Amino acid sequence: MLHWKKLTKKEQIERVQTALSKNVNFAKDATLGYPASKLDGKVFYTDAPFLKDAPVLMTFVANPNHIGCHTVGVSESAFAGTHEIEREALDILAVDVFGSEENEYDGYIATGGTEANIQAMWMYRNYFMNTFGAKASEIVLIASEDTHYSIAKGSNLLMLDWIKVPVSFDDRKINVVTFENQILEAQKQGKKYFIVFCNMGTTMFGSVDHPDDYISLLEKYSLNYKMHVDAAYGGFVYPFLAKENPLSFKNPSISSITIDAHKMLQAPYGTGIFLCRKGLIENALTKEAAYVE
Ligand SMILES: Cc1ncc(COP(=O)(O)O)c(C=O)c1O
Repeated sequence: MLHWKKLTKKEQIERVQTALSKNVNFAKDATLGYPASKLDGKVFYTDAPFLKDAPVLMTFVANPNHIGCHTVGVSESAFAGTHEIEREALDILAVDVFGSEENEYDGYIATGGTEANIQAMWMYRNYFMNTFGAKASEIVLIASEDTHYSIAKGSNLLMLDWIKVPVSFDDRKINVVTFENQILEAQKQGKKYFIVFCNMGTTMFGSVDHPDDYISLLEKYSLNYKMHVDAAYGGFVYPFLAKENPLSFKNPSISSITIDAHKMLQAPYGTGIFLCRKGLIENALTKEAAYVE
């Protein structure tokens, strides 16, 4: 582990205090104009004496703004201290747990797994459009029938078709014979670009997809595809149990991953994580967000 270092309670408090000291302080600094505010002390007990011993709560009541993606470009300097902590958390996950090379990924803490999954399909839809001039009707999502409903939601929002691959009743593995027929049929219907979602722990069965079941057929027909891993449910379990993890950045076919700390990492809701290889997130940067660095 390169980034994952165990800190004592005292070191955690110092780390957070140092980070917060580099942020704008809503209680003391001139902050009019920032789209954020000091939390209401009557509701959030911002002066409670126990906060000095509770580094996470201390950060919550400081209410730093982490809008945007802090692994690429320039971030808002008013929250530089805690943006640095966000990058440390992402380094642990991308490099130590999911096998990325140093500085070879982008990512951010998301609201949850649904957002991170939709971010992936939005990014790839735009990637295919920007890079190959694809039309939305030529792009298709692929995921097993056990996949989380966020894929159906994203397919609806982004108006992309979805190929639902059946799984076998007993072991929940995808049916490769049907999948082969489905991609041949999709090609006949004019689909040229494929966004594949592999599950690392389905919600209802905990099943983990074998990426080669998809990859071998996509490559047999030389299809243009990108592959995302939905590790929202299993991402804090499977990498620690499996002898080999084919669903990591060590696998060149995999370009992005969703993980959810509010599922198996005992974190509060609102702690999804989105990770992707460098060179992709630019496809989902909204130029109109001009007030954010
Ligand atoms: C496999 C999987 N993916 C995505 C999600 C969506 O996560 P969230 O509820 O954080 O949006 C869930 C939630 O249960 C899930 O189990």
